[in-house]
Amino acid sequence: MINDEESFYIIDSEIIRIYSSKVNFHGLQKFISFPAKEQNKTINYTEKIIGKLLSLGVKRNSKMICIGGGITQDVCGFIASILFRGIPWYFYPTTLLSQADSCIGGKTSLNVNRLKNLIGSFYPPQMIYVIPEFILTLKSQDYFSGMGEIVKMHVIGGEDYMKRIITNQAAIYRRDLSVLQDLISNSLSIKTEYIEHDEFDQNKRVILNYGHTFGHALESITNYQIPHGQAIIYGMIFSNIISFNRKSINKSTFDLINYKLFFPNLFAQYDLTKLSSENLISCIKVDKKQTDERMTMVLLTEENSLTAEKDISENEIKLALNDFQSLVTSNYARINEQGGSDDW
Ligand SMILES: NC(=O)c1ccc[n+]([C@@H]2O[C@H](COP(=O)([O-])OP(=O)(O)OC[C@H]3O[C@@H](n4cnc5c(N)ncnc54)[C@H](O)[C@@H]3O)[C@@H](O)[C@H]2O)c1
Repeated sequence: MINDEESFYIIDSEIIRIYSSKVNFHGLQKFISFPAKEQNKTINYTEKIIGKLLSLGVKRNSKMICIGGGITQDVCGFIASILFRGIPWYFYPTTLLSQADSCIGGKTSLNVNRLKNLIGSFYPPQMIYVIPEFILTLKSQDYFSGMGEIVKMHVIGGEDYMKRIITNQAAIYRRDLSVLQDLISNSLSIKTEYIEHDEFDQNKRVILNYGHTFGHALESITNYQIPHGQAIIYGMIFSNIISFNRKSINKSTFDLINYKLFFPNLFAQYDLTKLSSENLISCIKVDKKQTDERMTMVLLTEENSLTAEKDISENEIKLALNDFQSLVTSNYARINEQGGSDDW
């Protein structure tokens, strides 16, 4: 690692804890240890880090080097974008989610109160260094959080991509690095296709929000107890229920995606039976993607294409929530009857 006067490192404190026997982080001239928690993706915490950078002597010709997952990226990218109106930054993504998804696209985000990713900027790093071996030390819940975004990207990519998840599910459970490298690279190329012509999130890129309307609401209602990518899986299940209720997808597509892609990549059995439609609807309505009285959601249609529908009514959300709660509960019962989990 470069260790000079101009390089300011911000490193996830968990990475420092796990890897300090291999890497001499404390020998770096300028470094800050950052506890990667959703609760620290805030303006207040950002100001604290900027204070530390200033006390370490950061200047407008300095560069920031960030090592960590999506949270570290969101916070560091935001700081790099506003400090002295922008300094160069470099990113080493250390989670599956950040390697397969968040590292590209240039978005930085902070939470406000309990509202997820409400403020932010577009400010990509100068360079991204993906080292897949980092995935091996992730806790299961964080590993499967990354799988959530990978599964989303493969559904967006279409049938051939979906098959690559289905046929590799056992290797996914084993964390087979060669399979994961392929899935990471597929995800990054699918995402690139959607962001290439829509750098500032105006149009085609909206499809990447599949699962996010419900997913973000779920994250804030549960105070981030459910990891981001896992909330997105629940969000895609919810969104497919609306598609199914609208007769935009048939039962066999609905079941295939649920039972072969979504449920096998859910790590834990979160109790979602207490989720109320009032709470859900009020959370969805303050989401930054909502621009109208009726709600917007990305929905799957029969030819496996996705569209952003802007006319979702409160009643549809209420009905879908009932269906969602029964489906998820009956799937937990099915897995428990089989004796634990879906094959792993
Ligand atoms: N900017 C974007 O485009 C974008 C896109 C998707 C998601 N996100 C954001 O990313 C965040 C989720 O990112 P994430 O899943 O990478 O989570 P994260 O950064 O919170 O990391 C999850 C946990 O894993 C730990 N960790 C990180 N690397 C590790 C490693 N190699 N070994 C062991 N533990 C490690 C972290 O300390 C943390 O406890 C959310 O806040 C989400 O909103 C941003």
